Amino acid sequence: MSEPPRPAPRQVRPAIRAMRGYTPGEQAIDCVKLNTNESAWPPSPRVHEVLRAVADDHLRLYPDPRAERLRAAAAEVFGVPAEAILAGNGSDDCLTILFRTLLDPGDRVACPWPTYGLYDELAAIQGVAIEHVDWARDWRLPSVLPRLGAKLLILANPNNPSGTVVPVAELRRLADAHDGILAVDEAYVDFCPGASLLPCLAAHPNLVVLRSFSKSYALAGARLGLMFAAPALIEQCMKVKDSYNVNRLTQELGLAALADREHHRQLVERTLAERARLERELAAFGWQWPESGANFLFCRVGEHAGELYRALKARGILVRWWDRPQLREHLRISVGTPAQSDRLLAALRALLAP
Ligand SMILES: Cc1ncc(COP(=O)(O)O)c(C=O)c1O
Repeated sequence: MSEPPRPAPRQVRPAIRAMRGYTPGEQAIDCVKLNTNESAWPPSPRVHEVLRAVADDHLRLYPDPRAERLRAAAAEVFGVPAEAILAGNGSDDCLTILFRTLLDPGDRVACPWPTYGLYDELAAIQGVAIEHVDWARDWRLPSVLPRLGAKLLILANPNNPSGTVVPVAELRRLADAHDGILAVDEAYVDFCPGASLLPCLAAHPNLVVLRSFSKSYALAGARLGLMFAAPALIEQCMKVKDSYNVNRLTQELGLAALADREHHRQLVERTLAERARLERELAAFGWQWPESGANFLFCRVGEHAGELYRALKARGILVRWWDRPQLREHLRISVGTPAQSDRLLAALRALLAP
């Protein structure tokens, strides 16, 4: 039984009292975990070498507040200047820093909906109402976005939970047409080659791109993300972030992960191969999903989706289900290892047998 909510102390800001707070996916162990889109495969062996060599100084000394070595390495890999990069404690931290840097109460934020639920909470913390604009048919970009007068437009590309991708050219047109900041959250973009806006960053001074190490670098537990933007904006964001927001060990792990390009390539390749197999097998259930550019599938299952989610959970298999309009007939299923997919498929066959 959950405890009844405690009355909030009256000193707490009304905007915070009014919030429910973000509900992260369940973080259970000892299960087939296909609910929060982590990598199914481990990080680079070079990451393990760093862990084996952890010394007292990794813990005793503060980290580099500006993560200079990590940013220099990222600059090489992503082909942007180091001054255009900020490192965060996960891309969620980068998002927090961005919202805190840009938004005062009364400002306007908008996003296509449905999308990653954290944007709502970050706006609420700033005392800002976020405008949800339904995706156009087939998860196309809503044409009204540049006319909303929002200071910040934010979208995930590939989108979560749909996995769908807006082409680069359309996003560039949006950046040009929008008189404000356009933030594109590319947490999953490595699973969709050619979909990143990073090569166009310099051409759009109002563009912010966010990247995560939780998916294609298999470092969700270490917490590392990057924000890319015009150096003038990054400099302002540096003032807002926690001084030591990326811990010493994570900076080293990030450097090791970035250096191993071959491991990264293989991890992406395996994920895409297993996604293709999962799609072939799931088709047998008559389900549909939009074409995914990410490491998950957003399956339209029907009105028994919640029941199926609970039945899978009872068998030790976690997928994601939301009891919300537009989402409650779907399951979002992360791509797992072949063995994890086998467990999922066997359970589904048993549960859905006529
Ligand atoms: C669209 C999107 N952005 C950001 C994140 C968070 O990434 P990180 O683990 O780097 O904070 C997620 C995590 O699921 C996500 O789906």
